[in-house]
Amino acid sequence: MIIAIDGPAASGKGTLGKRLAHHYGYRHLDTGVIYRAVAYAMMEAGAELTNEVLAVAAALELDPEKFGNPILKTQKVGDAASVVSAIPKVREVLVNFQRQFAADPPGAVLDGRDIGTVICPHADVKIFVVADPRVRARRRTLEARSRGEDADEEAVLADILKRDERDQNRPIAPLRPAADAHTLDNSNLDIEAGVRAAIAIVEAARASRG
Ligand code: DC
Repeated sequence: MIIAIDGPAASGKGTLGKRLAHHYGYRHLDTGVIYRAVAYAMMEAGAELTNEVLAVAAALELDPEKFGNPILKTQKVGDAASVVSAIPKVREVLVNFQRQFAADPPGAVLDGRDIGTVICPHADVKIFVVADPRVRARRRTLEARSRGEDADEEAVLADILKRDERDQNRPIAPLRPAADAHTLDNSNLDIEAGVRAAIAIVEAARASRG
């Protein structure tokens, strides 16, 4: 079974993806990390983020061993990832990696922006996670502070809104729910309640398939 989870920045889709994968014994891929890794490679090389040739080269040299680097989680790298991910050729290079991950047994949960629409249009279950931008900014701020980073909630909110606008309005693979996605609004749900709601969606989808 393939479960696709999409949603905007800081919607909680990553945590949800991880928890769902754990619940079903599936593998989990946070696809944002891929774009973050490409963006970070560009930053390290001192490259212009819009340099297509260098960005494609960085995407081709992607090393999953580096996905755990905590610096990838920072707002600065996330912002850069939003720019790099708008380059069509970069997305093209990364499609196969994601589809291969999804296809390997026993099943997979992938979370991102275009999993249900582009990467796995035939996913068994698609969930589109949304949350009020203010709630997302609050969560992201607390998260950053817990890592010892300095974070100003208003600045985080501005960043989230800017990123939403860029991710939703890019011409290629924009952030939008697939026609057959189930929307999960977790603005008023804590993590446990969000996980329960997601499991309920997966179970209902399974039952309706027989
Ligand atoms: O989910 P995230 O914050 O880690 O994603 C970082 C950026 O990467 C996001 O602004 C857009 C891009 N992204 C994408 O274009 N497609 C995905 N499947 C995942 C992330």
